Parts: sequence; structure tokens; C-alpha cells
Amino acid sequence: MLLEGKVALVTGGGRGLGRAISLRLAEGGARIAVADIDGATAAGTCQAIRDVGGESLAIQADVADLDQIDRMVRETLDAFDGLDIFVNNAAVTQAARIMDIDEALWDRIHRVNAKGAFFCMQRVAREMMRQGRGGRIINMSSVAGKGFPGGSNAAYAAAKAGIIAMSQLATHPFAEHDINVNSICPGAVRTPMLEATSSQRAWEAGVALEEMMRRAEASIPLGRIIEPEDIAEMAAFLAGPGGRNITGQAFNVDGGVVMH
Ligand SMILES: NC(=O)c1ccc[n+]([C@@H]2O[C@H](COP(=O)([O-])OP(=O)(O)OC[C@H]3O[C@@H](n4cnc5c(N)ncnc54)[C@H](O)[C@@H]3O)[C@@H](O)[C@H]2O)c1
Repeated sequence: MLLEGKVALVTGGGRGLGRAISLRLAEGGARIAVADIDGATAAGTCQAIRDVGGESLAIQADVADLDQIDRMVRETLDAFDGLDIFVNNAAVTQAARIMDIDEALWDRIHRVNAKGAFFCMQRVAREMMRQGRGGRIINMSSVAGKGFPGGSNAAYAAAKAGIIAMSQLATHPFAEHDINVNSICPGAVRTPMLEATSSQRAWEAGVALEEMMRRAEASIPLGRIIEPEDIAEMAAFLAGPGGRNITGQAFNVDGGVVMH
């Protein structure tokens, strides 16, 4: 197994992409710390990993709270012997037209998606540098962060563009420690987050959710919504031997919507 002997920490691992990525990395042989603000869902993902013979640890943590980030990293190190792969995935959003975004919504999104993501990356990288055995950091951005005009919230898009920028700025200093840092930019992926934003937009447009999803599919060149497992495959590749010389990149997994 390609990830045998590795330890991974996945934030937002209780559901959606984070759950699929946790399961996929476990399938590759890694031991997984699954962190989520919702401890019950993190425990659910861990159970699913154990059901297929994997090793896992559930951690309840809010990634936007620095003390909780430090505890999350410490609990991972205490349970397993180090930390090799970090998937910086937790995020929040809500569909909102640009003129309707107020300060509270901006702050709620940026607290988790920008501040949280940055300090998680920083604290994990510090630990990887101290360990001295390299590492892989995968930051979850979005095609919204590359200016995809079909995005559902400009505040969210700004935070996701920030994820790409902070990954690029981290590339050289992290490379000195053999730590690779890349972003994944998913398109529309079938998760509870997509369902919530699509439901909101369907309601605003006065159409059924099914019609909204049909329109979304019609706008994707490959004609299908992305599945969480598709993103998990990309994460597993970047975390494994194939990702050894790949760093500072932002990979679209979106069915051909965005081409830069
Ligand atoms: N679903 C999509 O279409 C899509 C598209 C592009 C990018 N993304 C990105 O992929 C990632 C995962 O999205 P998803 O669709 O699985 O979302 P989701 O809402 O289904 O799952 C997000 C998970 O993060 C957790 N979380 C939220 N705030 C947290 C916090 N403060 N601390 C710890 N955990 C927290 C939630 O409890 C949940 O389990 C996010 O970064 C998202 O921005 C998703």
C-alpha cells in the first residue's frame, strides 16, 4: 500500500469531501486523525475506517481557534508517531448574492476558511519541520478561488483565492524542509455543502433542487457533478509517491469548467 506507515490529519473529516479523503487515505494504508467541529461525525468516519481494518482517531476541534488547532495537532502526535500528510479541508459557506453579503457573513466565512486554514497549515508545518522527515500539505481551495463566475458567494471565493496564494507563498520556505504544499480546486462536488448552496439558489430562482442540479450538470463540459471520491483520488495521489516532486500547484478537479 502506497501510504503504509504514514500518518494523516484531515480537517472537516466528518462528512463530504473530508470523509471521502479520510477513507481513501486509510485505504492507502495511512493512519488517520479525523478532525471536525462536529465530534460525532468525526467519530462516524473513524468507525467507517475501523470497519475496513484501518486505524483512526476522532478529534473534536474548531479549526478557527488557535488553542484548538494546537490541541488537534498534539492529539494526533500523541496517538500516532508523527504527522506526514495534512489535508486542510474544513470550510463553511452559504449562498449569497454579492450585494447581500454583510459583515457577519464575511467574518463567519473568513474566520474558518481563511484564518483557520492559514493557522492550521502554519501549526502543522511547524511540527513537520521539527520532525525533519518532510511532509505533504493539501489545502482545499475551489474553482471559486480562480474566479469561476458561477460561484455562490464572493466572500467564500475571496477566501479560496487566499488559499491558493498562501499555498504558493508557503512553497519555497516549506520546500527547504521537503514539505510539498498544493491546493485542490474542486468544481461542484456532491456533498451536504453543495446541496445547501444549491437549495438556496433553487429557492431564489423559483425552481426545484433537481432542476438546479440539472442546470449545474449542463454547464460542466464532462456533464456530471463531481463525486467526493474523485477529489479523494487527487488527494491520495498528491500524498503518495506520485506527488513527490509536485509542489506549489493548484489542481482543478471540476469536469473541465475552469482551464487555468
Ligand atoms: N462541495 C463542493 O462543491 C465544493 C466545491 C469546491 C470546494 N469545496 C471545498 O471542499 C471542502 C469540503 O467541502 P464539503 O463540500 O465536503 O463541505 P461540507 O459542509 O459537506 O463538510 C465540511 C465539514 O467541515 C466541518 N467544519 C466546518 N467548520 C469547521 C470548523 N470551524 N472546524 C472544524 N470543522 C469544521 C463540518 O462540520 C463538515 O463536517 C471545503 O474546503 C470546501 O470549501 C467544496
